[in-house]
Amino acid sequence: MVETKRVSTGIPGLDKLIEGGLLENSVTLVSGTTGAGKTILSMQFLKKGAENKEKVLYISTEENVNSIKGGFKIFGWDLDKLKIDIVVLGPDELEEEWEPLLSNRIDKEKIKRVVIDSISLASLYYRDDYSTRKYLYRLISALKKRNITCLLTSEILENSKGLSKSGVEEFVCDGVILLQFLGMGGKYERGLTIRKMRWTNHTQEIHPYTIVKGKGIVLGK
Ligand SMILES: Nc1ncnc2c1ncn2[C@@H]1O[C@H](COP(=O)(O)OP(=O)(O)O)[C@@H](O)[C@H]1O
Ligand SMILES: [Mg+2]
Repeated sequence: MVETKRVSTGIPGLDKLIEGGLLENSVTLVSGTTGAGKTILSMQFLKKGAENKEKVLYISTEENVNSIKGGFKIFGWDLDKLKIDIVVLGPDELEEEWEPLLSNRIDKEKIKRVVIDSISLASLYYRDDYSTRKYLYRLISALKKRNITCLLTSEILENSKGLSKSGVEEFVCDGVILLQFLGMGGKYERGLTIRKMRWTNHTQEIHPYTIVKGKGIVLGK
């Protein structure tokens, strides 16, 4: 059965563009080039949950705990104070660690919001496209079975036409939020687009946004 409850994204102004928020128990891909704000957006989503006293978990495949905490401290967010838990999984641990992490931590601790930042590493780690797709399909299916609302970040290359590296994530995920740099004369603007959101009458526009210290992603010029 499709859940009908909506979960706030934490990005002011975004919820009303997607019928009130993300569907509970859905998995959404946050896709964009480097520096687009994927890490900040996904942490903002966890921050919103933590402020609502929900248990939240940030899974990083790219940085260590201290650099994540240190970086966000500079940005104005104290992840310890906010009670945002962090787990770091390296490429070698990817496959064997997922199952125990999902069942021991997420299920037992009744975690409500999960971020995996990022899932792009999988396509570097696996030798061929078939193994990457199979792995991503299994991981995303396992996340969907749980009582969590999840964001996965995916790094795409500049000028790439796809929404992810391996091309499978956008099919399997319930939604895709695309963060882009749009060239405007000699300047660029940041633009947020909802490329897919199942069972949702979502905005079709490109929404300009900025990144503001202490606030995160701010929609509007
Ligand atoms: N204090 C700040 N003020 C304005 N922009 C910032 C600030 N801190 C970071 N940014 C912007 O955020 C970007 C990094 O965002 P991040 O979420 O890490 O990107 P991604 O995960 O998509 O690579 C930086 O390249 C910069 O443009
Ligand atoms: Mg990032």
